[in-house]
Amino acid sequence: MNFKIAVLPGDGIGPEISEQGVNVMTAVCEKFGHNVEYKYAICGADAIDKVGDPFPEETYQACMEADAVLFSAVGDPKFDNNPTATVRPEQGLLAMRKKLGLFANIRPVETFDCLIHKSPLKDELVRGADFICIRELTGGMYFGEKYQDNEKAYDTNAYTRPEIERILKVGFEYAMRRRRRLTVVDKANVLASSRLWRQIAKEMAPLYPEVETDYMYVDNAAMRMIQDPKYFDVMVTENTFGDILTDEGSCITGSMGLLPSASTGEHTPVFEPIHGSWPQAKGLNIANPLAQILSVAMLFEYFGLKEEGALIRKAVNASLDEGVRTPEIQVEGGAKYGTREVGEWIVDYIRKA
Ligand code: IPM
Ligand code: MN
Repeated sequence: MNFKIAVLPGDGIGPEISEQGVNVMTAVCEKFGHNVEYKYAICGADAIDKVGDPFPEETYQACMEADAVLFSAVGDPKFDNNPTATVRPEQGLLAMRKKLGLFANIRPVETFDCLIHKSPLKDELVRGADFICIRELTGGMYFGEKYQDNEKAYDTNAYTRPEIERILKVGFEYAMRRRRRLTVVDKANVLASSRLWRQIAKEMAPLYPEVETDYMYVDNAAMRMIQDPKYFDVMVTENTFGDILTDEGSCITGSMGLLPSASTGEHTPVFEPIHGSWPQAKGLNIANPLAQILSVAMLFEYFGLKEEGALIRKAVNASLDEGVRTPEIQVEGGAKYGTREVGEWIVDYIRKA
């Protein structure tokens, strides 16, 4: 295959993990005889500093012309601590999602046996947990009508039938390919938008008779996720609930630095780690590159290239087993590896495989 990849390193640790993701992508392409061409583009705080826009037109064009986007992270504390800032790095991410029509955000929550001890949950609860959260990504409060003055502010959680139908369809289809349980997460006891979600899910469920569909309020789902994470197979939910639940999901696995995600929809799909830009670690060569590297595995799998994805996953597992780990998941007394060293080890493994 000929890949045209738009690479958006962004801010903080973004460029460091991006480099490792690109190196892994190149190594896999060499191994399997694919051609790959990269086009780098700016976004986030980096792009605000350079051109005053967190998702400039040129970056948008680069994304539209690519087969896939390899995205890293955006965010900078100088904006977090300034409530009067009118442009923010995060707006670049939201603009990318909206303009590329990325309505389905796929966030797998998988555990690694050798890291179970890092989980805040008891071993027997978390070992073997394996579910996917499908988060609606271009609707709800993130994009609904907003208002703010000194006395009053609101965000509107608006959803239309077509928006709900298309994301639920993704949920049902994922459930069909997995263990066939779909949990629709909402707040239908309080929110009108949730009631429409639930109504539409109930209309669609008979079309997927093999799938056991259940409905759970988001507060209950948040609790169930730490009491019995193995209950879940596929969960589907709206934008804001999905944002919150996937952070919770990522930490039960032991490290946020391990979870990749894919955002897909109308135009070019985007593959990215679920973690943020960790500005405090910028340039220190300590950030875990595995979430980014695993997002490259998701990229190959998206294009039906299962062996390529599997080799990356094998290399990642081998690195963990061999103790080639960044500091936050290293065992006591274990050797020190940085972002670069972990990436290099994985590239080397892929080349020799
Ligand atoms: C995420 C992030 C973003 C979100 C932020 C950075 C805007 O937290 O991808 O989960 O809230 O969607
Ligand atoms: Mn989030």
